[in-house]
Amino acid sequence: MNSPVMQGLNLNAPDYVRNARLIAWVADMVALSKPESVYWCDGSQEEYDRLCQKLVDAGTFRRLDPVKRPNSYLAWSDPSDVARVEDRTFICSKKKEDAGPTNNWMDPAEMRATLQPLFDGCMKGRTMYVVPFSMGPLGSPIAHIGVELSDSPYVAVNMKIMTRMGKAVYDVLGVEGEFVPCVHTVGAPLQPGQKDSSWPCNKTKYIVHYPEAREIWSYGSGYGGNALLGKKCFALRIASTMGRDQGWLAEHMLILGVTNPQGKKYHVAAAFPSACGKTNFAMLVPPKGFEGWKVTTIGDDIAWVKPGADGRLYAINPEAGYFGVAPGTNTQTNPNCMASLDKDVIFTNVALTDDGDVWWEGMGEPPAHAIDWQGKEWSPQIARETGAKAAHPNARFTVAATNNPALDPTWDDPKGVPIDAFIFGGRRSNTVPLVSEGRNWVEGVYMAATMGSETTAAIVGQVGVVRRDPFAMLAFAGYNMSDYFQHWLNLGKKLEAKGAKPPKIFTTNWFRKGADGKFVWPGYGENMRVLKWMIDRIEGKAQGTDHVFGISPTYEELNWTGLEFSPEQFKSVISIDKAAWEKELQLHSELFQQLSYHLPQELGATKTEIEKRLAA
Ligand code: GTP
Ligand code: SPV
Ligand code: MN
Repeated sequence: MNSPVMQGLNLNAPDYVRNARLIAWVADMVALSKPESVYWCDGSQEEYDRLCQKLVDAGTFRRLDPVKRPNSYLAWSDPSDVARVEDRTFICSKKKEDAGPTNNWMDPAEMRATLQPLFDGCMKGRTMYVVPFSMGPLGSPIAHIGVELSDSPYVAVNMKIMTRMGKAVYDVLGVEGEFVPCVHTVGAPLQPGQKDSSWPCNKTKYIVHYPEAREIWSYGSGYGGNALLGKKCFALRIASTMGRDQGWLAEHMLILGVTNPQGKKYHVAAAFPSACGKTNFAMLVPPKGFEGWKVTTIGDDIAWVKPGADGRLYAINPEAGYFGVAPGTNTQTNPNCMASLDKDVIFTNVALTDDGDVWWEGMGEPPAHAIDWQGKEWSPQIARETGAKAAHPNARFTVAATNNPALDPTWDDPKGVPIDAFIFGGRRSNTVPLVSEGRNWVEGVYMAATMGSETTAAIVGQVGVVRRDPFAMLAFAGYNMSDYFQHWLNLGKKLEAKGAKPPKIFTTNWFRKGADGKFVWPGYGENMRVLKWMIDRIEGKAQGTDHVFGISPTYEELNWTGLEFSPEQFKSVISIDKAAWEKELQLHSELFQQLSYHLPQELGATKTEIEKRLAA
């Protein structure tokens, strides 16, 4: 037998690790991947500091200026490893129909046979980090445990920030507890004496999910959602299939609390596609004209939503940190975010300034000189001449939620927060109005299901192409998209059957452009004006005006105090152009054709109604 013990490798499991399945699995993975050593993370600050120092010594991290950016680091990835790889992401359910037409699929046995030779010896010369983590508060009935085995210390320190990671997970896991096994390798074994690169990775990449076995296997990338497996792989793709089986939702949504001057608090969950404004909206600072209003963050990327006994939906943020987009973030657009980044941050792919600090496009006044994310000389002049970016457009920061000055006091509450409204918002230069409300649950689900958005740098591939991104979950639904729509429709029916009023569903678009190619809507904090209208709708205080697919505000219904925005400008972001919508509905038809297997009949019927109204 080829057991690690027989190979002379000690698993080194600490005695507080008592879960038999875990130990057996680690032994199997050690036998397969053949690391030089195994290290069991305890999640302590001392360990974090030690691993960060190791990353500094290896040249992966640069320590930033201890006064300007205390306890913070900068990493530059390989230029080929900068974002999620959707075309290399697979849902390997037993049946192809269960993955559906929007997911890459391979038969599980075939995928296992494909991965076997890649993982065989993939960690040679490296340390395997055993990273135990909880998605959701430790020990809470809504939380789920995962263990990531990774040969990347960068992953281990990021997981410490992004999840509840460490020793206490083993107490919850006990002898027989369940966990989702997540295996990750950068796919760059080292021969004896071979010098490591500062960002090891492999041209070949596989991000693989086995939904029935609830396993995750990731090969070849060290970046973001490809490698931090608690996030998209577990908390969205695997969790969405758990939610389908168990009657809850795992969504690509921020969660915020908004409190009015009278102290009444509402909770909103909003799904915007990658790099379309979730972190910004979750940390919104109310503008002039909204004195006494307060917005607090519960989560910025992922929500797990469960029906409560009272017929309301309760949402928790399974994460513990933010892996957010740096470019475009500044003290004007997002002061809470900037304050979160004062200390204890890992920056990836931003520029290094001469005074040991960081800079990115859209942060403010550019430095006269910097080193760009590829380690090259950068200056505003070089940028003008060559178009070189100081930071990669998908450059990110990793920071603990507790760094956020706007963190909601209930962000960690295992009960979650009751949701009053869902928002779905794509990035569209035209066609889609600033805000509209579905007249009922089904209309809301229709708008979410047919949402389109221009692609961003968060995904490897072409930027700025409109594609359908149903529920902002195109890349994250772990099962058939039509079944996912049905799951949403069923949930609405279940709530209504209980006599409860399901949350209202809105769609937004902050990104319409004028003839000059500039955004017309000022966005960021000004989005509060739209949020307030939504609350007025919840309270029955705004009538809105009916149109072909929903209800939008009149100019008079928004509070314009502190902002100059004319009725003409408003018209240009709220209007519905008949010809554009005829084209848009054509795209809805194409989507429904693609998703025809199991497509809920109600969605087709809703489309017919919209077409009739548009033709009238
Ligand atoms: P992921 O982490 O990839 O899921 O993205 P996210 O949805 O959290 O995106 P984020 O809030 O980080 O925003 C991404 C980009 O959109 C940044 O460059 C922001 O500056 C920009 N952005 C955010 N909100 C607005 C807005 O209201 N208007 C405009 N024009 N841009 C915005
Ligand atoms: C996204 O792409 O939606 C992200 C960043 O939130 S990553 O974690 O890389 O998926
Ligand atoms: Mn995201």
